[in-house]
Amino acid sequence: MEKNSVSFEQLIRDDRAAHSTRTWQGRFLDYLELLKADPILPKLAHHRLHDVIVKSGVHDIKTSDDSRVKRLFKDESVKIYNFFEDEFFGIEKTLAQIARYFQSAALKGEESRQVLYLMGPVGSGKSSLVEKLQRGLEEADPFFAIDGCPMNEEPLHLIPRHLRREFEKMLGVHVEGDLCPVCRFRLKEEFGERYEEVPVVTRQFSKRNRVGIGVVPPVDPNNQDTSVLVGSEDISKLDLYSEGDPRVLDLNGAINVGNRGMVEFIEVFKNETEYLHAMITATQEKVIPAPGRHGMVYVDTVIVAHSNEAEWQKFKADHTNEAILDRIVVVKVPYNLRLSEEVKIYQKIIRNSDFRAHVAPHTLEIASMFAILSRLEPTTKCDLMTKLKLYNGEEVVEKGKTKKIDVRELRDDTKREGMSGISTRFIMKALDNALSDNIEGNCINPINVREALINMTKEADLPDDTRKQYLDFLQDVLHKEYLDVLEKEITKAFVYSYQEQAESLFQNYLDHAEAYVNKTKVKDRNTKEELQPDEGFLKSIEEQIAIIGSAAEGFRQEVIAYLWAASRRGGRISYRSYEPLKEAIEKKLMTSVRDISRIITKARTRDEEQSEKYNTMVQNLLQHGYCTNCVDVVLKYAANNLWKD
Ligand SMILES: Nc1ncnc2c1ncn2[C@@H]1O[C@H](COP(=O)(O)OP(=O)(O)O)[C@@H](O)[C@H]1O
Ligand SMILES: [Mg+2]
Repeated sequence: MEKNSVSFEQLIRDDRAAHSTRTWQGRFLDYLELLKADPILPKLAHHRLHDVIVKSGVHDIKTSDDSRVKRLFKDESVKIYNFFEDEFFGIEKTLAQIARYFQSAALKGEESRQVLYLMGPVGSGKSSLVEKLQRGLEEADPFFAIDGCPMNEEPLHLIPRHLRREFEKMLGVHVEGDLCPVCRFRLKEEFGERYEEVPVVTRQFSKRNRVGIGVVPPVDPNNQDTSVLVGSEDISKLDLYSEGDPRVLDLNGAINVGNRGMVEFIEVFKNETEYLHAMITATQEKVIPAPGRHGMVYVDTVIVAHSNEAEWQKFKADHTNEAILDRIVVVKVPYNLRLSEEVKIYQKIIRNSDFRAHVAPHTLEIASMFAILSRLEPTTKCDLMTKLKLYNGEEVVEKGKTKKIDVRELRDDTKREGMSGISTRFIMKALDNALSDNIEGNCINPINVREALINMTKEADLPDDTRKQYLDFLQDVLHKEYLDVLEKEITKAFVYSYQEQAESLFQNYLDHAEAYVNKTKVKDRNTKEELQPDEGFLKSIEEQIAIIGSAAEGFRQEVIAYLWAASRRGGRISYRSYEPLKEAIEKKLMTSVRDISRIITKARTRDEEQSEKYNTMVQNLLQHGYCTNCVDVVLKYAANNLWKD
């Protein structure tokens, strides 16, 4: 106890100390001195957010050490922003577009006067992206504001117009914007126009405290006026002060609040056009009307709006909206289509939630495959599962060759891929359902998750043909895919030192194939005896991937040529180096233990030797991430579905 309370105290003390070094308070005159030393302090909102995004670093996607990523982006350059990297997966291009918007807006390009609009299907991460930007502001350095200003405005607004040129020259900054009606009034009445005396403070961005971050939810039909955006006049004060006295103003609308930072419009096109006009004026003219007769108020804020595609299409179809359309930068936020990244999304959501259960190997992969299959557009070039794997940067082997399909071309052939399909939320719901349906164990696995997905698909409100297709993915495509995975997994658990055995098959294959191709002999590694290349052995491997007869000769040459080239490039070669051969070797190993796996797994009673083998296999699976509940489930599943008699 003692120890803990000390560290709590320390923590609080440290935090407070850090906080106090970041806060500042003084008169406007002092602020000017501060600026002289550090002229970058008075940043406009877009500039500030751009700094937030690039502060943690940028790198090119090609610097990744994941070979799949390298293969996918081999002739593209995509910038990766560390700011988003740990939380957003597979939507690199969207993130780069967002960053580009801020970059050009920070340079006061046209974008600084346009709305950033995120458009995408439900659960594609739009709200999370906006939240991330908001959190970025909250964690950024505090900003300077006129103390007591309802809009936390930039103190430089205090400089009278006729002196601005001179001040700008002295400070090396540009001064933009004018005092709000409240500050103008106070400057006159409280400070007798002595603006150098006006107090300046630092303010920390906070969504909850409504400092620099404003949020506009879709409009409440009972509240159709724009006070939500621009504030209102306090009716109770109208008796005290004359009309036109700024003391009656409550500048607490979302845009007032978002001054200096950002304003988020949720499901923006559900709002009345009147709202949208205020939104557009705020970005385009950088002013909003003050309630009542108080003229216009300068604002400096990033407006970020989001909604789904249907709302966007509806809005776009209405010709009266043309003027607004011109002022919107549309960034599409599609669903992710890369398997490896989809898995990371669920890992992230699970990590951040109260979901506490064992997740069996391949569970999230199978669920993710379903999500991605539902999002893919069909192509004449290959089936959807192949497309999924190609999009994931995998090599797909067919008839002994890696498929030569250009991923970029596949992508270019699509129309709106990623803009529809199963959402992340649907999948999370299925994971929850699988868990609550599992009475035997606190565990989800590919089997109960697939089951949950099937049930949910049956109940979901979907067009008949879509439902049929989804069920086909689940009951056929993924069923087969999972059985493949499972058989490989069980083989690995059965085969003592799988890796070594695979390598040894590989070495042997190479020796014999090389001798065969070069018409030489094979030197036995142990006896040094010279032997004829063993064609029977070569064939036993090749037939695993349906290379038979005259095709064998060509295959052997390709293998040797490929591996020669690879080793000349300095790469270490292994059984994994050449995808078709890897597949053949793995299948060979599978066949070699197929009979015994089948007998032992299916057996109701096992003799002593069988029991020992079985137990070793189970131990291996347990070591590879299965729990005592799911190991039973998957083995039962294997017994019932694999190795059909
Ligand atoms: N590409 C992605 N990378 C990381 N997380 C994602 C991605 N797409 C969706 N998510 C997650 O899915 C969940 C739903 O996203 P959300 O932002 O609410 O979607 P939207 O607002 O577009 O409906 C969130 O937990 C979000 O973080
Ligand atoms: Mg949302």
